[in-house]
Amino acid sequence: MKTVKVHDKTFKTFILHEEVVAQVRRIAEQLNEDLKDTKPVFVCILNGSFMFAADLLKHIELPCEVSFVKMASYHGTNSGDVKELIGFNESLKNRHVVVIEDIVDTGKTLQTIVEKLTELGVASLKVAALLLKPGVYKKEYKVDYVGLEIPNDFIVGYGLDYDGLGRNLRDIYVYTEE
Ligand code: IMP
Ligand code: MG
Repeated sequence: MKTVKVHDKTFKTFILHEEVVAQVRRIAEQLNEDLKDTKPVFVCILNGSFMFAADLLKHIELPCEVSFVKMASYHGTNSGDVKELIGFNESLKNRHVVVIEDIVDTGKTLQTIVEKLTELGVASLKVAALLLKPGVYKKEYKVDYVGLEIPNDFIVGYGLDYDGLGRNLRDIYVYTEE
């Protein structure tokens, strides 16, 4: 077990990189199968999903476009209001859209995104989330592809941050009291 200090808090290894990329690969294979004969647009939710998106897209064998949206919801370790910092592109109308999200916690971010994409008139919508906290997520939308389900703990690494730091960590770490 390895620990890292991010700001004032200590985190310990939780999911190793190899396990993460195995799940990413599995999701990519499902998407290749489920979306065959389409030309999807992958919409990556910044900042947290950049690493997941980069690894996932390397295994996508479909002709596809990649686009980015920036949402912010977290202040410290508490889920707050969702703000759209870089918006959606109108050209998503009638397109098959796959949302790439790092983690679904309360689902506020996801709900905002799903509502917005529905308004834009997409042809179909799938959501791929690397991580899901089922103990917290109580919204209606069923996340289509989930890498791993995790307990309601605060994590960092592989794109996820604690107040701006920790996104570059290769493994995923969980907050620990000691
Ligand atoms: P939600 O709107 O509550 O579902 O929160 C979603 C966003 O909050 C995610 O896209 C992450 O960027 C961030 N987030 C949620 N849980 C964690 C965590 O455990 N560590 C770091 N960021 C998190
Ligand atoms: Mg995020």
